[in-house]
Amino acid sequence: MKRILVTGGAGFIGSNFVQYILEHQKDLVLLVNLDLLTYAGNLENLKAVEGDPRYRFVKGDIRDKSLVEGLFEEYDFDTVVHFAAESHVDRSILEPELFLTTNIVGTQTLLDAAKRHWKLSPDDKYSREYKPGVRYLQVSTDEVYGALGREGMFTETTPLAPNSPYSTSKASADMVVRAYHETYGLPVNITRCSNNYGPYQFPEKLIPLMIHNARTDKPLPVYGDGMQIRDWLHVKDHCAAIAAVLEKGAVGEVYNVGGNNEKANIEIVKLILKELGKPESLITHVKDRPGHDRRYAIDNTKITRELGWRPEYTFEDGIRETIRWYLENETWVERITSGAYQEYYEKMYR
Ligand code: NAD
Ligand code: DAU
Repeated sequence: MKRILVTGGAGFIGSNFVQYILEHQKDLVLLVNLDLLTYAGNLENLKAVEGDPRYRFVKGDIRDKSLVEGLFEEYDFDTVVHFAAESHVDRSILEPELFLTTNIVGTQTLLDAAKRHWKLSPDDKYSREYKPGVRYLQVSTDEVYGALGREGMFTETTPLAPNSPYSTSKASADMVVRAYHETYGLPVNITRCSNNYGPYQFPEKLIPLMIHNARTDKPLPVYGDGMQIRDWLHVKDHCAAIAAVLEKGAVGEVYNVGGNNEKANIEIVKLILKELGKPESLITHVKDRPGHDRRYAIDNTKITRELGWRPEYTFEDGIRETIRWYLENETWVERITSGAYQEYYEKMYR
């Protein structure tokens, strides 16, 4: 990997990944971050790398064909890591169309550009020969598998059974990626990761929202009985898993990524209150999310055995470090809640 296109690099996982790759990938020549800067994109996450000569930011939409084609022409990427997406389940319930166009059509636009640019005979529909070493990686989610009962875990062969407009859009995108591999031979991978936590997560998601509300003595809105289970992984471990797939993943393979950290939402909320020294009376049970998946759990055997990846964070250390990060970066949270972070692009890139 020398010339990489990262989409959605101003979001939570994308911005952690951009920093991770610039730090760890010593032979990297160029990293272009293509991001539309929706409400979820925040260039303030990337202040530390702005001056890196290998880094470029491009504001734009993954659905914009001529922009995406032009970027491939200009920068001659050998790797694409596709994070850009509408990512919040609750928003997908209110606005499904946006999720379907961004997450499915956006993926297909990138795949088309990669196919055209990387294929040795782009006009030969039967040719499956590509430039050596090129790779397209789709960052997907465990939510494509639907919900589990009390027992079992998601493996890479679990049938897809998405339940929300968000997870449906991600599962559909995965199918498009699969089709480009099966039909055109495009060298792809798909990673399906469990819930991430860590620095720079938009405070609409469970952990940063609860930390913010607890810190400011606001009610903590727990959906339903709070006994839904998620399998938590520190975002830096997710970044390392993606890097391992890019380095060693077999072409066409799907890799599940998870840290064996199943927790009920209510446990996490209580832990945050305890760490902040706030009373449990702040917990407010609210109406449940429609179609709320009860339990997710990732079987990570394939990636650990085949690629040697292992999570480095224990949940206990990771969550404490994360809580501390949000407390030490109150201004970052406040600039999001006030909307001030959106002025940063104008100032920086005008
Ligand atoms: P996020 O919402 O924090 O960031 C999404 C980014 O995509 C933002 O910077 C946004 O501006 C950008 N974007 C949105 N629409 C765009 C468009 N049309 N063109 C260009 N950029 C656009 O999301 P996240 O939590 O960082 O998730 C990143 C990816 O990882 C997503 O594909 C998500 O499905 C997947 N994922 C997330 C988790 C998780 O726990 N957060 C777990 C597994 C997989
Ligand atoms: O599993 C991976 C997925 O994890 C990613 O694909 C998604 O992009 C990411 O948003 C996340 O989805 P969840 O729906 O699991 O995350 P969220 O933080 O929104 O919610 C986590 C759990 O907490 C879920 O069971 C709903 C619950 N919840 C969430 C919020 C925001 C609450 O009880 N109250 C809340 O206010």
